[in-house]
Amino acid sequence: MDERGAQVEPLKIGLLGLGTVGSGVFQIIQKNGEELAQRTGRKLVIKKILVRDLTKKRAVEVPPELLTTNLNEILDDPEIDLIVEVMGGVDPASSYIRRSIQAGKHIVTANKELLAKNGRELLSLADEKGVHFHFEASVAGGIPVIKALKESLAANQVSKIMGIINGTTNYILTKMTAEGVSLESALMEAQAKGYAEADPSSDIDGYDAAYKLLILGSIAFGSRLDLAGVYTEGIRKVTPVDLDYGRQLGYTLKLLAIAKETPAGIEARVHPTFIPNSHPLASVSDVFNAIYIEGDAVGELMFYGRGAGDLPTASAVCSDIIDVARDSGAKKACSCLHVKKQLPMANTVTRYYIRISVQDSPGVLGQIAQKFGANDVSLQSVIQQGRGEPVPLVFVTHEVSEANLERAISGIKALDCVYSVDNIIRVEGEA
Ligand code: NAP
Ligand code: HSE
Repeated sequence: MDERGAQVEPLKIGLLGLGTVGSGVFQIIQKNGEELAQRTGRKLVIKKILVRDLTKKRAVEVPPELLTTNLNEILDDPEIDLIVEVMGGVDPASSYIRRSIQAGKHIVTANKELLAKNGRELLSLADEKGVHFHFEASVAGGIPVIKALKESLAANQVSKIMGIINGTTNYILTKMTAEGVSLESALMEAQAKGYAEADPSSDIDGYDAAYKLLILGSIAFGSRLDLAGVYTEGIRKVTPVDLDYGRQLGYTLKLLAIAKETPAGIEARVHPTFIPNSHPLASVSDVFNAIYIEGDAVGELMFYGRGAGDLPTASAVCSDIIDVARDSGAKKACSCLHVKKQLPMANTVTRYYIRISVQDSPGVLGQIAQKFGANDVSLQSVIQQGRGEPVPLVFVTHEVSEANLERAISGIKALDCVYSVDNIIRVEGEA
């Protein structure tokens, strides 16, 4: 019933996908349906569910007649107002969403890859057709950060976002640091818990975090970021040796996604990062995500919560469904009003941890220090432990541009006394 007592039609939903997230959505609507109907003033009904395999055993009990493998049964049903896409991948999800918008249906999606690659086109199409297009679950699972940026923080100029926005890699790094397990065995645990993407290289190689950073940065700075310009480095090169040196230096290693607006342009990067143990992001463990935001009016904010998993992610999907049911929330899908310059990685200024294998002989440290100095790289600390051939040397620099650091590293690699530059990890937070 609406406020005048008139009967309001239920919101009929076509669900594309019944995997981890789809099952969570189904479960929430089943369990909390009555309460949601009271809150929204409209009953939520899942009318059809698209899957690949009708015979597959499901995590939830679903009446078989709801399942279909034929998208047209959903698109051609005029009663279905809303498409909830939780299939994943770019194809065919992109064309299914495009066809749904063209059919005048509202869209809710959890698909960050699709948004990062085809968001510009799909959001414009949604605005052209005047349909809702919400994607809260696409970044940081259950944390309501997109709505916060689009609505609650709309009065601010955001200057910086720094976050742990991939649960799988945070889970892996937490296990590797605390229990000394290998990356592979920690990944298997994350997959068993439903955190990892279908192809876990998207998590491990940093792409999942890059897609999410692109979405956050585009909304925060009002200018669509270009995926090719988001520097992306995953956690494959992280070794127990580096985690050990980090411990000695008072650092915790995290895969950080960082976006900043500077007078010269926007910087966006994802990479393993050492942060001081006292930094608020250092204590964000396991699958938890956290996003730190700086706005000119609000100051510093931090969002914390579960970034993956069936029910946390479904919580965000359902909040979008509720916005459609109420016809509330930001109706304009695309919030990129400007075209701002994106900066190359060479312009980035940060600190660096560098581990080098060198000859164990007098004068070696001096030769390396000379290469750093000649390229304006100032050193904050040096660790040399043990004897042997080769012997490891670890340096932490003061702030320096990526371009200068790269020049110094090229010079160091060319020295006869250097066997190899074994790892370079960026360092953020107060020195
Ligand atoms: P999932 O467990 O792999 O489930 C995918 C579902 O989509 C399955 O039910 C599958 O059908 C169906 N599907 C896939 N391709 C299809 C096709 N071509 N035609 C018909 N059905 C198809 O994936 P998920 O983990 O739920 O993730 C879904 C989306 O949510 C992704 O975009 C992911 O990035 C995003 N997300 C996931 C999480 C998380 O914690 N898992 C968190 C935030 C966002 P069958 O079951 O028959 O194979
Ligand atoms: N694979 C993603 C993660 C799921 O680990 O954070 C949430 O997007």
